[in-house]
Amino acid sequence: METAKAPGKIILFGEHAVVYGYPGIAVPVKNAEIEVSVSHSDYFSYETDRELYKEEKECLNELVDLIFFQLEVDKKELHIKIKSTIPIASGMGSSAALAVALIKGIAEHFDILLTEKKINEIAFESEKLFHGTPSGIDNTVVTYGKPVYFYDGEMQLLKLKKPIYLVIANTGIKSSTKEVVSGVRQRYERYKEEYSALFDKIGEITEKAKTAFENGEIEQLGELMDKNHALLQQIDVSCKELDELVETAKLAGALGAKLAGAGKGGNIVALVDESSKDKVIEALKKISKNVIYTEIKP
Ligand code: MEV
Repeated sequence: METAKAPGKIILFGEHAVVYGYPGIAVPVKNAEIEVSVSHSDYFSYETDRELYKEEKECLNELVDLIFFQLEVDKKELHIKIKSTIPIASGMGSSAALAVALIKGIAEHFDILLTEKKINEIAFESEKLFHGTPSGIDNTVVTYGKPVYFYDGEMQLLKLKKPIYLVIANTGIKSSTKEVVSGVRQRYERYKEEYSALFDKIGEITEKAKTAFENGEIEQLGELMDKNHALLQQIDVSCKELDELVETAKLAGALGAKLAGAGKGGNIVALVDESSKDKVIEALKKISKNVIYTEIKP
């Protein structure tokens, strides 16, 4: 039996704008992950430790077919076991992590050596099954398992001068990336000038954030996260539960906070320091059932 893992992710800057060719910044969340075990069986079957959500259920067979096609393997007699600690439909990249863990597990089962570049290419094709028009940022950060700066389909590993401390809190509302992204697309088509101007501003914030990461300007990063959240509100992907989590984190002393991922539910991410960390975690735990603390080291 072969086992492979892939981490969850959180987008720190640029979601949605990144779909339109603007830059985005995302980091892996290693304490939330998907583990896939692949073993021989007489026919294709799978089991999971949690219910698959709608898109996963609809796409799992197609996803496995796509992986087999890409790996040029024609046997599909496998039993696949999926274990996950990534909250589903939450903006933490569970679909990208499922794809990457499956690609790695199946490749290993057939003794196929894959480069990270190839894993990422197949995972990008898989994301199209789930989301229609993905930017590629989710599969990239999950494949490489490192902070990434993503721009127009190309990625650079992001250099951090100092560690950053993040608190992620879930609204408990499941949100479909496909639906939220297509809602933004409809509004963009209707209000092109206004939305292009908002994406320009998000793009500028992401560029400033890249420099702030490289220079270790943590407070500046917090301010930029707040500004990014305000712009995400303006493109109408926030909701009152996300705004409440963001405000709670800020009142408890977070340096910055924003929704993370597609929005309309899912998660927020707050940037904290040593002195605010415990207060922010405690305050968020009062209104969220799923609070994750993670450190991103240079
Ligand atoms: C979803 O995690 C991030 C979005 O920007 C979509 C994408 O980049 O494919 C909303």
